[in-house]
Amino acid sequence: MSLFARKPIADLLVEEGHPNALKRALGAGDLIMLAIGAVIGAGIFSSIGTAAAGEILPSGVVVRYGAGPALVVSFILLGAVCGLAALCYAELASMIPQAGSAYAYSYATLGEIVAWIIGWDLILEYAVGNVAVAVAWAGYFSSFLSAFGISFPEWATHGYRAVTLSSDPAVQSLLQTAPRVAGVPILVNIPAFAIVMAITWLLLRGVRESARANNIMVVVKLLVLGLFVVVGAMNIDTSNYVPFAPNGWRGIHQGAAIVFFAYIGFDAISTAAEETKNPQRNMPIGILGGLAICTVIYVIVGAVATGIVPYAELKAADPLSKALTMAGLETASWIVAFGAVVSLTAVLLVFQYGQPRIFYAMGRDGLLPRWASKVHHKSRVPHITTLVTGVAVALGALFADENEIYDLTNIGTLSAFAIVCIGVLVLRYTDPDRPRPFRVPFVWPVTVIGAGSCIYIMTGLPVRAWERFGIWLAIGIALYFVYGFRNSTLRRGVRPERIPPPQ
Ligand code: ALA
Repeated sequence: MSLFARKPIADLLVEEGHPNALKRALGAGDLIMLAIGAVIGAGIFSSIGTAAAGEILPSGVVVRYGAGPALVVSFILLGAVCGLAALCYAELASMIPQAGSAYAYSYATLGEIVAWIIGWDLILEYAVGNVAVAVAWAGYFSSFLSAFGISFPEWATHGYRAVTLSSDPAVQSLLQTAPRVAGVPILVNIPAFAIVMAITWLLLRGVRESARANNIMVVVKLLVLGLFVVVGAMNIDTSNYVPFAPNGWRGIHQGAAIVFFAYIGFDAISTAAEETKNPQRNMPIGILGGLAICTVIYVIVGAVATGIVPYAELKAADPLSKALTMAGLETASWIVAFGAVVSLTAVLLVFQYGQPRIFYAMGRDGLLPRWASKVHHKSRVPHITTLVTGVAVALGALFADENEIYDLTNIGTLSAFAIVCIGVLVLRYTDPDRPRPFRVPFVWPVTVIGAGSCIYIMTGLPVRAWERFGIWLAIGIALYFVYGFRNSTLRRGVRPERIPPPQ
């Protein structure tokens, strides 16, 4: 059987009421809230600093050019690119409402090996991306607590990798001053580890409870960003907008490639398709509605942030709080730091929710061991993969450097988006008669420009991101031949849980 064998769509779906089916509990409103929960996080609260100011090594080597105040152009560009990808996600998610998201769509359209590669890429988006979010969370959490005079020992809030890669001499000195065990310095990020484990516990309690917690956090993050905009707008100095695009289009492009992290997540809600009521209607509303709301918020926040201070000042771990502090708005700065903690918690929640569902779908297809597709008899969540993902991300967050991870997550996610766009086009020709509750309008231009523009954004990332992505793909392909190739249910002709879809 060919490496590009395609799985019939009916085989990707599990019958309602099947012991291994997930529980349908989410409506359109929950999905929009999940999307906002997933999207607004480390990107807007943290990576915009580097996107606006760029990244220059102490040696003077430019790693990337910043967009400057033209950051708003980067945001608009990304909103358009993600909009095209979102249309494609909406068609596939309403047509194949399956927990595996882009992985499942590519299995039906482009074949098994492409599906595996997508599933492997999605680990970069969800699990690896969440390592960075957890580390960013811990940074904001520490500064938030410091306002109350509470502080953790430095060695317990800095992961080993983050210390060795830091250009800050004070952080580097931890290599000498940290406590040692058998000569090895103990440098761990305990708050990052703890928040991931706490979220894993919440998810294990069941999807309804998780969605409720998410809704509360989304309301808080919208209020806090609203405060930033209102207070910040009153302190804009229009001279900060000049020059508007200090590095021209190159800065806008490279700024977009890093701040793309801020957009990741609107697609994550497609992993909830099997837990959604009436997914044919609610999935497109959730995906497109969530993206539209977030784009508007980003453009406004970007315009205000670059108006309060000169753009180069935004280069900080907490650019929004820093901008307010520099404007003498201490209380607002502190409230925004609190909002960042809440926002990043919501991002962690949605991504820790999405990853196990992709593993679950891959387990059902035999590309991962069967335990990956087990669902808990009472809570009806894929409990084993939820726990495995939680422990893996928590351990990663204990040692990682967040900046190293942003680029890798972006390149993996953009490649998945490009493949999803192509998948829509392929399926229009290979399965033209299947009902499409939502259809991408102008399918040729939308899919071709969608895929092309994702690749274009990828080209704005540094070379090291491409190298690491290449290594990641090579490991994934090797694993496929060691396990999935031999155990795939499609390849073995087994159809254990492949029952016609619910109508
Ligand atoms: N978009 C998410 C964030 O910015 C991943 O944290």
